Amino acid sequence: MCGIVGYIGKREAFPILIGGLKKLEYRGYDSAGVALLNDRNLNVYKEKGKVATLEASCAGKDLAGGLGIAHTRWATHGEPNSVNAHPHVSQSGRLAMVHNGIIENFGTLREQLQQKGYEFKSETDTEVLVQLIEFALTTTDDVKEAVVRALNKVIGAYAIALIDREHPERLIVARKSSPLVVGVGENEGEFFVGSDASPIVEFTKKMVYLEDEQVAVLQPGKSPEIYSLQNQSVDYDIKEVDLDISMLTKGGFPHFMIKEIYDQPQCLRDCMRGRVFVDNDNMSNNFIQLSAIRDYKNRLLKARRMIIVACGTSWHAGLIGKQLIEQMCRIPVEVAYASEFRYSNPVIEPGDVVIAISQSGETADTLAAIQLARENGALIFGVVNAVGSSIARASDTGIYIHVGPEIGVASTKAFTGQVCVLTMLALQLGHELGSLADNEYHYTIGKLAEIPELMEEMLKSKMDDQIKRMALTFTYVRNFLYLGRGYNYPVALEGALKLKEISYIHAEGYPAAEMKHGPIALIDSDMPTIFIATHHQLYQKIISNMKEVKARNGKILAIVTRGDKEVKAIADNIIEIPPTLNTLVPLLTVIPLQLLSYHVAVARNLNVDMPRNLAKSVTVE
Ligand code: G6P
Repeated sequence: MCGIVGYIGKREAFPILIGGLKKLEYRGYDSAGVALLNDRNLNVYKEKGKVATLEASCAGKDLAGGLGIAHTRWATHGEPNSVNAHPHVSQSGRLAMVHNGIIENFGTLREQLQQKGYEFKSETDTEVLVQLIEFALTTTDDVKEAVVRALNKVIGAYAIALIDREHPERLIVARKSSPLVVGVGENEGEFFVGSDASPIVEFTKKMVYLEDEQVAVLQPGKSPEIYSLQNQSVDYDIKEVDLDISMLTKGGFPHFMIKEIYDQPQCLRDCMRGRVFVDNDNMSNNFIQLSAIRDYKNRLLKARRMIIVACGTSWHAGLIGKQLIEQMCRIPVEVAYASEFRYSNPVIEPGDVVIAISQSGETADTLAAIQLARENGALIFGVVNAVGSSIARASDTGIYIHVGPEIGVASTKAFTGQVCVLTMLALQLGHELGSLADNEYHYTIGKLAEIPELMEEMLKSKMDDQIKRMALTFTYVRNFLYLGRGYNYPVALEGALKLKEISYIHAEGYPAAEMKHGPIALIDSDMPTIFIATHHQLYQKIISNMKEVKARNGKILAIVTRGDKEVKAIADNIIEIPPTLNTLVPLLTVIPLQLLSYHVAVARNLNVDMPRNLAKSVTVE
């Protein structure tokens, strides 16, 4: 993980770097640091903890300089402290570098460098790399060439930004497997660097996404020079990136997570815009148009099997996608944890379609899984949020979810965006395959288009207050059970994950009927069970499960369809959601569960947007 920022130009670098780090803090917040070069004067400041701690500790220090690099860390090698914090400086004090990724052969390289007399202050792999670059400078005067030589010796993943006291006119960056974006300022007079576009977009919309194994030399007044690891100059495109900056602020909400929960109606409208077309006068004119399907129609329609690979919340969305695709398209779908898939010697055949679901588009396991699938001839279909991210670029085709940057570490709007995209995909494919009846296709599209309004209705109702009050009674509960069936089973998993992530309360999601094969032994008056019990064909069976819980003195909170009477008579508390189709119900049932985890975490006085030990974008294995 980790976030990196860099700047070179006529402005003061420090405020740009600190502002950028704050936008990248979702990538890790174990420590933060900055290196500033003013002529040949190098100042490095580092602190354990968050960017705000670094900023406060920098007050009154020498912060001058139009060239700088900065870092926010999610610790991999070495405990989170100020010594292991980046930037790391080479032995002679000439080079300073920040790094996101892991140098896998750092132990061997470190030993080799130690034998040559290099000494190390930190336990990090990053310090090894900056020393290796300095060592390469003993055989060449050209820093870029030294970077290329060093990177050729490295096994692993990196996005780096490097400054050199001998050359205060240039900033050098490189990447492999970890993301890195270069923002090109007006007339190429200044350059910005970021792990993603969010720290850059307020300054310029012109960006260069560095490819794997590329090194860029950024020098104001000159076009960026980009080189391969063979030291050959390579061509590149400057892209216009459009990112709505309001998405990067809390917009009056106390936390990003709650803002992002409330953003969901608009996010789903954005997700469906230009893709879902509804004729309110004549339902049979409703249609879905996904350019990704148009371009790869034959291969998609001929798919004998689909495999969804993802991690975390995206994996839960994948479980819903499986049900949607199997039901509407009658194509068998497997859902795999990307981390398991890549090491399982999976059976992949050329006719297979592998769907990679990822909010960040940078999750290392998901990226590796699709690389493996591609080598075995599968078509790679990305369902990604971050435009231009590694997974988006490594996919043959795909659909962006277009929900805007998600900053809260606990994923909310990305989940509903992913489910929305998978629903559109299943609908269009099912229609083209003829496995979905025309009227069902048209009717479901109409109902899908209503979802943002229903979400709004829920969020404007008293539901949030009701959940806030309930959350207070759950503050000291130590275990929760979440149960659902069919489309609501993955929602149960997602609800439990949300609670674990931000409230640090143990919670398990289970298919409701499986409860009697184990979890029922846990039930007593201290462990609440959350049932997702909306109307569908298994509703009566869920009611039987509820009775089993009640018979054992369990407390029940149930998410039900508005107007429900049967569950109301059994459950201790209910939360009503508006009626919708069973295939679309996860888009609504997940919202009260997101709110519940949020309010429990707030009631427990926890850091909702930055829960301990987690990071938003997991670019390490
Ligand atoms: C991390 C995040 C989760 C996310 C998962 C997969 O664990 O904390 O919120 O669901 O990674 O990330 P991706 O970006 O691939 O969806």
